[in-house]
Amino acid sequence: MRDRPCAPPVLEIRDLAYVWRGPDGRERLLFDGLDVRLEAGEKTVLLGTNGCGKSTLLKLMNGLLPAHRGHIRWRGETISPERLRARELARRFRRDCVLLFQHPEAMLFNPSVAEEIAYGPRLLGLDDIPARVARWAGALGLTELLAAPPFQLSGGEKQKVALACLFALDPGLLLLDEPTASLDPRSTGWLVDTLLDSPATALISTHNLSLAAELGSRALVLGEAGRLLFDGPLEIALADLELLARAGLAHRHRHRHGNLTHHHLHRHDWDAP
Ligand SMILES: Nc1ncnc2c1ncn2[C@@H]1O[C@H](COP(=O)(O)OP(=O)(O)OP(=O)(O)O)[C@@H](O)[C@H]1O
Ligand SMILES: [Mg+2]
Repeated sequence: MRDRPCAPPVLEIRDLAYVWRGPDGRERLLFDGLDVRLEAGEKTVLLGTNGCGKSTLLKLMNGLLPAHRGHIRWRGETISPERLRARELARRFRRDCVLLFQHPEAMLFNPSVAEEIAYGPRLLGLDDIPARVARWAGALGLTELLAAPPFQLSGGEKQKVALACLFALDPGLLLLDEPTASLDPRSTGWLVDTLLDSPATALISTHNLSLAAELGSRALVLGEAGRLLFDGPLEIALADLELLARAGLAHRHRHRHGNLTHHHLHRHDWDAP
């Protein structure tokens, strides 16, 4: 029997390393040999403390930063800032793989919300642009704001416009950097439902461990300098306080009851008991 050709992963990272130069001129290394595969439809949560490399990893995956070592393959094709200078590849990749920046202001530069949402679909030559704008503005409660300049909006409204811009492309791979950071509970619930109902592959960074449990089924936990501490079922990662402590996502508390002192590990989380 002949082997059936099987589809490559949606995204595959092999032996990735990223180098940046600090203000003292010294080079620093992130992800010293990171391997990650994202399979079709998987929803993965990216966890780690401030500065561990989550945003840098998402930008590398989106072809915005050059890897120092290793490679990134999107649906079998090698991706890098240099390769994305080729317009044909860039068009296909940018249509499929979208990145929500941690600070959505970085994405907003059009004179109105309507033009902001229409910008990506127009640039990529998609059809039904007014319908796309109406659909995603409606879904995110932005219809009343379509004529408003994005810079006048509140933080959460800007985040919603940035999300509408991404969803309007109907992407297959969503890289979301703390997408719920400025969202109210209702909008957060909408995003969770929309992601879970979507066939798209998603990698979502968050500091909110309670919410993480709803955002996906797999966890990537990064430690210091982007070292991969865990890749597996999310519920196992969230229940493993020692792992969370190593990742800086739980801390050791000292409690005193009369003459007795004992130690507890606590998740750094809003809703943790
Ligand atoms: N080009 C660069 N120049 C200077 N520092 C950089 C550069 N690239 C990455 N870094 C550093 O790498 C580390 C990782 O940054 P990154 O923004 O990826 O962290 P993060 O995990 O997203 O953190 P946070 O949770 O605060 O968003 C930080 O210490 C950052 O200062
Ligand atoms: Mg970040």
